[in-house]
Amino acid sequence: MKALVWHGKEDVRYDTVSDPEIEDDRDAIIKVTSCAICGSDLHLFHNLIPAMLPGDILGHETMGEVIEVGSAAQGSLKKGDRVVIPFTIQCGECDQCRRGNFSVCERTNRKKELADKAFGHATAGLFGYTHLTGGYPGGQAEYLRVPFADTTHVKVPDGIDDEKLLFLSDILPTGWQAAVQADIQPGDTVAIWGCGPVGQMAIRSAILLGAEQVVAIDHLPERLSMAAAAGAITIDFAHESVVERLNELTGGKGPHKCIDAIGTESHVNLGQPDTILDRAKQMLLAENDRPHVLREMIYVCRPAGVISIVGVYTGLADKIPMGQAMNKGLTFRMAQTHVPRWTGDLLRRIEDGQIDPSFVITHKVDLSQGPEMYRTFRDKADACIKVMLRP
Ligand SMILES: NC(=O)c1ccc[n+]([C@@H]2O[C@H](COP(=O)([O-])OP(=O)(O)OC[C@H]3O[C@@H](n4cnc5c(N)ncnc54)[C@H](O)[C@@H]3O)[C@@H](O)[C@H]2O)c1
Ligand SMILES: [Zn+2]
Ligand SMILES: [Zn+2]
Repeated sequence: MKALVWHGKEDVRYDTVSDPEIEDDRDAIIKVTSCAICGSDLHLFHNLIPAMLPGDILGHETMGEVIEVGSAAQGSLKKGDRVVIPFTIQCGECDQCRRGNFSVCERTNRKKELADKAFGHATAGLFGYTHLTGGYPGGQAEYLRVPFADTTHVKVPDGIDDEKLLFLSDILPTGWQAAVQADIQPGDTVAIWGCGPVGQMAIRSAILLGAEQVVAIDHLPERLSMAAAAGAITIDFAHESVVERLNELTGGKGPHKCIDAIGTESHVNLGQPDTILDRAKQMLLAENDRPHVLREMIYVCRPAGVISIVGVYTGLADKIPMGQAMNKGLTFRMAQTHVPRWTGDLLRRIEDGQIDPSFVITHKVDLSQGPEMYRTFRDKADACIKVMLRP
């Protein structure tokens, strides 16, 4: 089959690889109808996440049709079912899965020893990601093997386009979880850093969950316009002081809730000297992440506020102002998304017409154009916001 394959830094190729096969009786194979490129894939593209190997198949936003089912998954899946595949692989039975903490499932990371060493405790297996999360082949491909398929799927009805359903795999529940874990109360101002696909979903989720004022921060005009179209007030960090504007909009008190939808790759910008220092340290391998946004959020957040982090961090981040955070009484909530915790509710909202996440798609192309699309999405060229690929 054809797939997008990681070969090293900034080297993604459209390769011919072996077709996946059933390896365990809980597996299923799906024929991919649509997949997408995520901001998390960019961290892999830039080789900022350790433990990738040349030959790894990328992709963790995937949907398709079931074409083969292992004997132990046949009770819940059959040939012909239409499914969206969460990026988190979950067993459904361990202590964490029973608590709904699917992204830290205790059983699905097949490289548990490596992950235990790196993180203290292994987290769930993820598709198309580092070997620290199991090194499972991803879904930017014609076919995908889904391990633990009896629990790792969201069945979706016919009659709704892939465009509206695909993002149940990741960015829609991620934006939703970002807002839910911010604990939004009536009257709250919620500030959201990053108007990429995840930020866009977080903006709309914060509004649906009752935020009084949503403020969206980025520097790309087309992304800021998309945020404004949802009802957010926007700040262009390249031309305005984020801290001053947020204080102005909140009577000097700061936002109640701050959402990080950027993570490790904060834009490097002359006006923000800490980002230059972080970039230099990153190149010298003295620091893994560029946590400018964390510093800014901690500084501007209203005392007793919540910092909700869904942007991905990879390792050690320097100069995090813990003194400010502790004395202001801030609460930190963060995670890789517990995807199936939210998908039932979100699918109903899509079916009811309350949410239509397809608005974010700017590029719809053949899978063979994937390598070029990684560069377009990375460079934010051609007003690219979200790339959907069709094998
Ligand atoms: N927690 C999860 O489960 C989960 C799931 C999906 C994605 N993610 C992560 O979410 C993040 C965003 O993903 P995406 O697909 O939206 O990526 P993206 O790269 O398209 O968007 C990031 C946006 O942040 C903006 N930005 C950069 N520096 C900024 C700054 N200092 N202030 C304001 N804006 C700034 C960029 O201009 C860009 O628009 C990534 O880190 C990704 O890994 C996490
Ligand atoms: Zn993702
Ligand atoms: Zn589990």
